[in-house]
Amino acid sequence: MKKIIITLDGYSSCGKSTLAKQMARALNYVFIDSGAMYRAITLYFIAHAIDYTNDSAVQEALKQINLAFDYNISSGSSDILLNGRNVENEIREMRVSNLVSDVAANQYVREFGVAQQQQMGLQKGIVMDGRDIGTTVFPNAELKIFVTADPAIRVARRYLELSAKNPGISKEEVQANLAMRDEIDSTREFSPLRKADDAVVLDNSHLTREEQLKTALQWVNDKINSLAVL
Ligand code: CDP
Repeated sequence: MKKIIITLDGYSSCGKSTLAKQMARALNYVFIDSGAMYRAITLYFIAHAIDYTNDSAVQEALKQINLAFDYNISSGSSDILLNGRNVENEIREMRVSNLVSDVAANQYVREFGVAQQQQMGLQKGIVMDGRDIGTTVFPNAELKIFVTADPAIRVARRYLELSAKNPGISKEEVQANLAMRDEIDSTREFSPLRKADDAVVLDNSHLTREEQLKTALQWVNDKINSLAVL
């Protein structure tokens, strides 16, 4: 069966990664969490006190960063490695979430991330989620999905996810973080978050995981069938 590139973009915590993982498993595709790459870069900047507003410091720091993904059998998806170290859990901490959108808005950080993501797509057969995947990374992707969900539902989902590991976290803190990131991500100068003109919208506010997967897989089938008749 023909392999395609599938992009999933959207606001924070709207379930992109969940859907991307489900789709990759069902289709036997590779799932790439592009947000994990920006989070790992941010973790490096925090650890080495890199000022994200200082372009020359950013450029020097990026030369020291090596990102890779390592398949984790127990979770069924890939963990991110920062210079060979598994940082999959650390990058989800609030100290990273609070800074990642500022770091990800830097022009050199974006060039770094986008170039590596484009390399990963050369073989096709990938599902990549993020903010600018359908617009900047793979403008020619065969299937682009823009995922949305009600803001209150997004906050509730992320709070549930984070409070399991951080008992001290408050719903207000989560809400403020999502609102801040969405604002920075959609108003930044370099590849802002926006729906690609040719993306289909999936609002999963009231869909179960099975329902959202079913809809998305139907789109994949339709797309592959339409390519076959061309
Ligand atoms: O928390 P959530 O899973 O929604 O976000 P994420 O996918 O882990 O991404 C974290 C942050 O990285 C986003 O808020 C963006 O600032 C940035 N990002 C980006 O700029 N471009 C991407 N393609 C993916 C993420």
